[in-house]
Amino acid sequence: MAVNLSLTSDGPGATQALGAVIGQTLLSGDVIALSGELGAGKTCLVKGLATGLGIDTPITSPTFVLLRNHDGGRVPLVHVDVYRLDRLSEIEGLGDDVLSAHVVTVIEWGDTVDAVLPANRLLIEIDHLGDGDARAITIHGAGDWEARAPGWSASVTSLPGLAVAISSAES
Ligand SMILES: Nc1ncnc2c1ncn2[C@@H]1O[C@H](COP(=O)(O)OP(=O)(O)O)[C@@H](O)[C@H]1O
Ligand SMILES: [Mg+2]
Repeated sequence: MAVNLSLTSDGPGATQALGAVIGQTLLSGDVIALSGELGAGKTCLVKGLATGLGIDTPITSPTFVLLRNHDGGRVPLVHVDVYRLDRLSEIEGLGDDVLSAHVVTVIEWGDTVDAVLPANRLLIEIDHLGDGDARAITIHGAGDWEARAPGWSASVTSLPGLAVAISSAES
């Protein structure tokens, strides 16, 4: 079984708030792949994830450094951006913490390295809806995410700027 949750966000604050809801529930060993074009809001979502994890250091795009570690939260966050990786195998050279069981690993452009990610990674896609700040955010997860995601959809309906479009479980 897998879960699919489709949401809309009306601005960066709403996307960060969604990230914070998800971040509060993250556990060590979790892997999240983020997809969406440049400027979609992947780094913006990571800021929220970090807030939800209790991390208070600033989150900036790791596009050029490839990886940043953020300690000080409930679980360490490893924030990776694979946009500039040429080969899939290079992800293994990024460091021992990447994909390790004692951190949460979040990978921008993670859809491009899906082949080396665990089957139970959470995939979050962010797409522009029109020319303004609206975004479609679709969350796909298998395994225990199916039990965890319904709690997020319940939480986000009370947040300004976020709405649940579709929520479904599929085999
Ligand atoms: N609904 C929204 N969600 C996320 N970011 C948004 C939204 N609307 C506007 N933005 C803006 O879009 C940009 C997203 O940048 P960023 O998160 O760095 O994108 P990415 O990491 O996908 O390249 C930011 O300037 C942010 O303020
Ligand atoms: Mg980014």
